[in-house]
Amino acid sequence: MKIEHATVVSQEELYANTYVMWLSCPTVAKGASPGRFFMLHCSDGLDPLLPRPMSFHRFRDGNGERQFAILYDVRGRGTAWLAQRSSGDEIDVFGPLGRGYEVDKSTQHLLLVAGGLGVAAVISLADQAIAASQSVTLLQGARSADHLFPSTTLPKEVEAIAATDDGSAGHKGVVTDLLEERLPWADQVFACGPTPMFAAMAKVIREMRSRKPVQALLEEHMGCGTGVCYGCAVFTRKGVRLVCKDGPRFELTDAFR
Ligand SMILES: Cc1cc2nc3c(=O)[nH]c(=O)nc-3n(C[C@H](O)[C@H](O)[C@H](O)COP(=O)(O)OP(=O)(O)OC[C@H]3O[C@@H](n4cnc5c(N)ncnc54)[C@H](O)[C@@H]3O)c2cc1C
Ligand code: FES
Repeated sequence: MKIEHATVVSQEELYANTYVMWLSCPTVAKGASPGRFFMLHCSDGLDPLLPRPMSFHRFRDGNGERQFAILYDVRGRGTAWLAQRSSGDEIDVFGPLGRGYEVDKSTQHLLLVAGGLGVAAVISLADQAIAASQSVTLLQGARSADHLFPSTTLPKEVEAIAATDDGSAGHKGVVTDLLEERLPWADQVFACGPTPMFAAMAKVIREMRSRKPVQALLEEHMGCGTGVCYGCAVFTRKGVRLVCKDGPRFELTDAFR
């Protein structure tokens, strides 16, 4: 896959150590969709050597082209480098990669479940669904109110419900506590978050004996992003799968029994 230069259009800290960066790169934007990802080379040289995967967070039309955003928090060397970029800077990227969310033609009610920074990957799906006159409920879990994606930046039609570990906003507890009540309303469920969240979701669904389709975006450490290194292999009910190539979208109950 060809490496492209993406230009930073803007960058701001949106909330608690979490940045939104808009990028211009028509080749990567073409074919990008909610749930897919691309790789960014996060250095001016060779350190760090491996590119970092990032989900497409949002899309917009800007200057006559389709632009896309990433939402990230500063975790290590790669994201610390990203946070130092400003408008006009160039970043080497390649993509779009992987299989993203798929919304059935008959779906009217989308339930989005996001834990922590998993919210980065579901917002563009909310934008897309509202534009298509579908109904969206977003269940979002975070450590505290400061770590919630600001609902003011969502389309006003989205019903946003929060859960926080410390009870500083919304339900006090984990986001999966909210699932049982909302599940019957949904035609499809789309999730992104840490492994314990997926495991808890699978447990709720099992206990409810629900057959509702739940698409989960799995996160694994990645080397190549293109199915070559086998660094992102996971065990599923259907055998060993590569998150970068076969996913990152998996049916929840295939990945978590
Ligand atoms: C398909 C996919 C989509 C992603 N989308 C986003 C996104 O939209 N926003 C975002 O902030 N991050 C996203 N990530 C994770 C992102 O790639 C890591 O945040 C990034 O690699 C951290 O890079 P770093 O150099 O700052 O940290 P590193 O120095 O590489 O690592 C810092 C810490 O983060 C841990 N870490 C690194 N990568 C991962 C990973 N993939 N999963 C779990 N822990 C990890 C390391 O073990 C270490 O403890 C995504 C990952 C995948 C696989
Ligand atoms: S990251 Fe190399 S095979 Fe998936």
